[in-house]
Amino acid sequence: MASSRRRSRPTSTGARGPLALPRRARPEPLTTPRLPLDRRSLESADFAIVDSLDPVVKAQQCFDDLLIPADHPGRLPSDTYYISRPGGKEESSAADTLLRTHTSAHQSTLMREGNEAFLCTGDVYRRDEIDASHFPVFHQMEGVKLFDPAVVGGAMTREEWLASEGCQLIAADLKKTLEGMCDELFGPVEKRWIDEYFPFTEPSFELEIFYNGDWMEVLGCGVIHSGVLENAGLQERHGWAFGLGLERLAMVLFAIPDIRLFWTDDKRFTKQFTAGQYDTFKPYSKYPPCKKDIAFWIPDGFEPNDFYELGRGVAGELVETVALIDEFTNPKKGKTSHCYRVTYRSMDRSLTDEEINALQNELRSKTESELGVELR
Ligand code: PHE
Repeated sequence: MASSRRRSRPTSTGARGPLALPRRARPEPLTTPRLPLDRRSLESADFAIVDSLDPVVKAQQCFDDLLIPADHPGRLPSDTYYISRPGGKEESSAADTLLRTHTSAHQSTLMREGNEAFLCTGDVYRRDEIDASHFPVFHQMEGVKLFDPAVVGGAMTREEWLASEGCQLIAADLKKTLEGMCDELFGPVEKRWIDEYFPFTEPSFELEIFYNGDWMEVLGCGVIHSGVLENAGLQERHGWAFGLGLERLAMVLFAIPDIRLFWTDDKRFTKQFTAGQYDTFKPYSKYPPCKKDIAFWIPDGFEPNDFYELGRGVAGELVETVALIDEFTNPKKGKTSHCYRVTYRSMDRSLTDEEINALQNELRSKTESELGVELR
């Protein structure tokens, strides 16, 4: 039974076996995610709308065009879903094929094609933690706007550009635009700008809003790095870019407590939302959770993401959270133990004990055989 639940794309990830994306999260059927966001509120007539680009891209587009170096952690197979990696597991190259990890993967191509301002929306894929706000596939909207060189200046050195008025003008326009969008979406909400680092923007910022008693990140953005524009053959041009996580935004707008709800077929969820209308989610009774612990001695070079990924592979969207609840090192043995609490819960039905035990047993044996850990 567990094996019939195993989902894999027909392609292979090379060094890492088949993708362990949840059944409904394969790229093919992603044209209508159940995202109750009215996209028009984010769009403006001046921006070209691009929303059907293939999520399978080259590392050249996703990383190299954006000055993300070959040794950047985001390029590791523990973070990114590779379709093929000609150089093998250890070797990152521009020729690798992968599922885009952000919509920024299309920035350079779209600018090179002559687009001056665009909004590019799509599904993006990341190996990540397992909890209520992380799912291996989610959606982003990329915004890019280039400015008239007569207004902001043309070709110059990176240092000259960063010290110029044009650069400040673009950063100010970016902040004003995004604050306006936030006000439109959330009403008057408290916001703050944080200095950030992205290899492909300079300067870079993050916008946070105060929501439910906490600061929450809503987007990353910045002035497009001169090097990115040079790579795209646009050394005379300057502009800004931002990347917005759409599920995060919808979760806040509609008070949706779990990211997996976007993938449910449950009418109690889907019937609550009408395009163009902001309704607050009315919670309905949840099916009961079941928690199981698993503890093991970790080998050298152990990556928690690999364990999360195994969990996704075994239980798909039936796994709600995987939390590291205990960690200690035995000084005599010089070994470190991790204990993870796995919470199983379906959004759509009750799970049986038998079913959960089968999943947990499969997870235990695969953790041992595939990650080389010693179970405790
Ligand atoms: N691509 C970045 C991310 O996914 C967000 C971003 C987009 C940052 C554009 C700067 C400019 O985190």
